[in-house]
Amino acid sequence: MLLVLGRNMVVGTANRCSRLVLRPVRSTVAAAAPGRYLTHQNGLPCLPVPPLQQTCDRYLAALEPILESAELECTKDLLTKFQSPGGVGERLQKGLESRARRTDNWLSDWWLQAAYLDFRMPVVVHSSPGVVLPRMQFSDRQGQMKFAAKLIAGVLDFKTMIDAETLPVEYLGGSPLCMHQYYQILSSCRIPGLKRDSVVNHARDPRPPTHITVVHNFQFFVLDVYNSDRTPLTVDQLYVQLEKIWNSSLQTNKEPVGILTSQHRNDWGKAYVNLTRDETNKESVLAIQKSIFTVCLDAPMPRVSDEMFRSRAALQMLHGGGSHWNSGNRWFDKTLQFIIGEDGTCGLMYEHAPAEGPPIVALIDHIVEYIHTSGMVRSPMAPLPMPKKLRFNVTPEIKRDIENAKEHMNTMVHDLEVRVVVFDQFGKNVPKAQKMSPDAFIQIALQLAYYRMHQRCCSTYESASLRMFKRGRTDTIRSASIDSANFVKAFDDPAKHNTEKVALLEQAVKAHRAYTDRAIRGQAIDRHLLGLKLQAIEDLASIPEIFMDTAYSAAQHFNLSTSQVPAKTDCVMCFGPGVPDGYGVCYNPMAKHINIAVSAFNSCEETNAAHMAKVLENTLMDMRKLLEETPKAKL
Ligand code: COA
Repeated sequence: MLLVLGRNMVVGTANRCSRLVLRPVRSTVAAAAPGRYLTHQNGLPCLPVPPLQQTCDRYLAALEPILESAELECTKDLLTKFQSPGGVGERLQKGLESRARRTDNWLSDWWLQAAYLDFRMPVVVHSSPGVVLPRMQFSDRQGQMKFAAKLIAGVLDFKTMIDAETLPVEYLGGSPLCMHQYYQILSSCRIPGLKRDSVVNHARDPRPPTHITVVHNFQFFVLDVYNSDRTPLTVDQLYVQLEKIWNSSLQTNKEPVGILTSQHRNDWGKAYVNLTRDETNKESVLAIQKSIFTVCLDAPMPRVSDEMFRSRAALQMLHGGGSHWNSGNRWFDKTLQFIIGEDGTCGLMYEHAPAEGPPIVALIDHIVEYIHTSGMVRSPMAPLPMPKKLRFNVTPEIKRDIENAKEHMNTMVHDLEVRVVVFDQFGKNVPKAQKMSPDAFIQIALQLAYYRMHQRCCSTYESASLRMFKRGRTDTIRSASIDSANFVKAFDDPAKHNTEKVALLEQAVKAHRAYTDRAIRGQAIDRHLLGLKLQAIEDLASIPEIFMDTAYSAAQHFNLSTSQVPAKTDCVMCFGPGVPDGYGVCYNPMAKHINIAVSAFNSCEETNAAHMAKVLENTLMDMRKLLEETPKAKL
C-alpha cells in the first residue's frame, strides 16, 4: 500500500565545492521569443537514474544520525542483499533505466500521482501552501477593492508572458531551468476522485477561458477579465466590476459550498458526485475549475497585535480561519487563490499538484512590482455586463456534506499553530561574509534548534529543485547528516572549545551544501528509492525488504519538513507539518533579514511552533556569535 506522508509526499509502507558560485534561482536572461518555449524545453537534459550502489551507500549514511546502531546493522544487511549481483535491486534498477529511456522524465508522472493525486488527506493544511505578503496600506472596503483590481491586472500582465511564451528562462548554477510549471498554474484545478484525484488545465483549450472567479460572502461570481477586443480589463474597469460583485453578495447567510473542497479526498470525491448530479451545480463547478484563477474577498478576521499580524495572516492563507470566518470563501482545489482581506491582509494559497513554490513566488514578485508601478488607468466607461453569479442548488444530502466539512475544518483549525517571525538580526549577509552558504547555515541552525528542543536529531526534509531536468520537480536534501549531528551535539557542550565548534559548523555547512549540489543534479537518494519501490509495484513483484524495514519508515518520518522559497518581495511561504509530531518550516532569506514561518499541531504535546521559532532565532544569533568571537584556525 502506498502511504504518502504529509506535504513531503514521500511514499513508504507501512559546497557545493566552495568555489562554485550559483547564480540566483531567478536570475534571468533575455526573454525567449514566442515558440521558443518548446525548443528550450527540448534542449533540457533528462533526469538521470543514479547508480544503485551510490544510493544504497548514501541511504545508509543518511540513516546514521537518526537510528540506533543495532537497527543500522540490520538495514546494512538488507541493503547488501538488495544490491547483490543478480538480485532484486539490480532488476528494479534495470527497469528504471529502461523507463528513463522511454520517457522525458522517469519520475514526474509517478511523482504527481504518488505525492499528490493519490494523497487522500485534505489538501488544506496537509498539502497546499500559503504565501503571506506584508500588510498592505489599506484598511477599508474601497482599499480592498482597489488593491484587488490592481492585483488581478498584475496577474493578467504576467499571463501575457505565459501566453506569448516569452517568460524569461531561469538559471540555477549556470544551468537553464525547466519552465514547464509556469504553464500549469493558470486555468487549472484539481478534481476529486473516489480513490484518486486528477488535475485539469484549460490554458491550451481551443477556446481558453477568459474569466476569473471571485468569491465574497461564500458566493462565487464569474468575472470576464477581457474586453471583446481581447485586451485585458483595466484596473478601473476591474474595480467597477468588483464593486458590482460586492454589492450583490451582501447576504451573509449563504451555504458555504466551497468548504466541501476542504474535506478528506475520498469524502470530497463522494460529495462531488452528489453535488454535480444537479446540472446547475455542475455548470457552476465547471466555471470555477476553468477560471484563470480565483480571488477571495475575505470578511474581516479577529484583530490581533502587530506582532501577531503575519501569523494570523498565515492561518488565513492556509485555512481561512474556520467555518465562522473565511474557510467557506474558498475553492481549495483551485490551483491559485489570491486572498485579500479588508484590513490589509494579502496573500495566496495554492494547490500543490501542478507546481512548486518558486514559480508561484515569481508571479507574486511580478504582481507586487506591477502594483507599485501602475496607477489606476482611466478607461472609457462603456458599461460592462454584470458578472454572473454562480448558483448552487443545495439538497439535504449536500447540506449534510457541508455540515460534515465544516466540522472537520474547525477541528483542523483548532489543531494548527503557525508562527511567522521576521528575524531581523541578519540575513544572507552574515553567512556570506563567513564564506558559507546561507541556506546551509539556516538548515544547520534548524538542526541545532530541534536538538535543543528535543535532545535528538530527526529525519529532515528540505526541498531541492530538479528543474535543471526536463519536467523536473523536487528531490530531498536530508539535512540531518553525520556532520550536522556532530555539530549539534558539540555546540552546547561546555567541554568543547569554540575553535572545535567552529570547525564542526564549517564541516556541517559544507556537507549540507555538497548534498544540495548532488540533489539538484539528480543524485540524491529519496526519489531514486521511491522509483525502485514503484518499479517493484509496477512489476507486480513483492515489495523488497528494504522498504518494509522500520528504518525506512523512520527515514520517511520527517519531523522537520522544510523549504527555502526565496522572493524579492518581503513575503513568506508557509505550510503545515508533514507528520503529526513534526514542524513545517519555510523561510525566505533576504539580504539583511529572514522571514520564517513555523507550523506545528496543537494535538502534539511535544511540539510548539512559537517555541520552535524563538529557539531558532536564538540559535541563529548564537551561531553568529560563535563565528564572530572565534578566531578562525589557519588551514
Ligand atoms: N560563500 C559566499 N556566498 C555564498 C556561498 C559561500 N560559500 N554559498 C552560497 N553563497 C551565495 C550564493 O551565491 C547566493 O547568492 P545570491 O544571494 O547573490 O543569489 C546565495 O548565497 C544563496 O545561496 P545558498 O544559500 O547556497 O542557496 P541557493 O540559492 O543555492 O538555494 C536551494 C539552495 C536548495 C534552496 C535551491 O537549490 C533549491 O533547490 N531551491 C528550490 C527549492 C524549492 O523548490 N522549494 C519549494 C518547495 S514548495
